[in-house]
Amino acid sequence: MYIAKETRYDKMKYHRCGASGLLLPAVSLGLWHNFGSNGNFDNMVQMCETAFDNGITHFDLANNYGPVAGSAEENFGRILEKSLGIYRDELIISTKAGYDMWPGPYGNWGSKKYLVASLDQSLRRMGLEYVDIFYHHRPDPNTPLAETARALDGIVRSGKALYIGISNYNKEQTIAIAGLFQEMGTPFIINQRKYSMFVRDIEKDGLKDYAAWNGIGIITFSPLAQGLLSDRYLNGIPENSRVRTDGRFLKEAAITQETLNKVRALNALAKERGQSLAQMALAWIIRDGDITSVLIGASSAAQILDNVGMLENTQFCQEERDTIERILA
Ligand SMILES: NC(=O)c1ccc[n+]([C@@H]2O[C@H](COP(=O)([O-])OP(=O)(O)OC[C@H]3O[C@@H](n4cnc5c(N)ncnc54)[C@H](OP(=O)(O)O)[C@@H]3O)[C@@H](O)[C@H]2O)c1
Repeated sequence: MYIAKETRYDKMKYHRCGASGLLLPAVSLGLWHNFGSNGNFDNMVQMCETAFDNGITHFDLANNYGPVAGSAEENFGRILEKSLGIYRDELIISTKAGYDMWPGPYGNWGSKKYLVASLDQSLRRMGLEYVDIFYHHRPDPNTPLAETARALDGIVRSGKALYIGISNYNKEQTIAIAGLFQEMGTPFIINQRKYSMFVRDIEKDGLKDYAAWNGIGIITFSPLAQGLLSDRYLNGIPENSRVRTDGRFLKEAAITQETLNKVRALNALAKERGQSLAQMALAWIIRDGDITSVLIGASSAAQILDNVGMLENTQFCQEERDTIERILA
């Protein structure tokens, strides 16, 4: 029987999510990859238990995570049943709907019909009565924003989610839906966006600053650019890497000489700081204190331990900041 480590809250830092009462761990674990029907179940269990043993209280899912779509939620449901479930009140579990999930006109985007049905399916797959955060996964250009907002508000009122999040909404889209949520008193607390040293859209579109000033939490996904911002690809492409095991989202073509040169230079700086490159890349995301949580993925428990270790050094002096900007330029 699994018993969580008593020391699990000793080292993790918890950040307030926007202006809400909810604290999220500085590092959260996402189950997008390596938790599908093609993954190794024992490895999944080990990753989730290692995460929780080290203070990662937040597990992020979506209806379509797999492959096959839905299987990551099913496997997480099995993990809850096997071990983590006895700690349900110490866990923040999120799921999302917004991408293509089932055939026909009701299995995608942002209608009330889709969002309500999808969350019901997710709850069944995970064996849960409620999720802590339910996200609209991406903006829908064709459904009235007010319908999506009202559907999410109704979901909270039905008791099936405690808080509402949005994902992949830019600053203007965030302002628009936040206004609707405010009118209804919806507990909208967070936007989930891609952010790493290589992808800095939330700086460019102004969301990073806007969210910090307006009490909206930000959780950032693909902080390692799916593994590129680590030592994973410095000496060729490992057979067990994301590029080889699932080339749909991180393609070999992304590993260019130019990218490798940057990664090598960043790796040298990380060594000077006494960190792995993955640790430095994660620490860089929370350098200014305005990001609520860094949402990592992993293929092993060892990677999770390495990543949590970033908390030992999250400070960057001006010289290091300048060096990073020079390398990335
Ligand atoms: N809202 C959205 O639209 C959206 C989109 C994408 C992701 N997400 C969320 O964000 C989560 C994280 O995304 P991501 O998996 O792309 O994040 P990531 O942290 O950028 O990439 C994770 C991958 O990096 C490698 N890695 C992790 N730690 C490492 C370490 N210490 N040393 C070397 N390599 C390491 C592993 O690759 P290998 O597998 O090669 O070992 C791992 O699978 C997802 O699970 C999901 O919850 C949300």
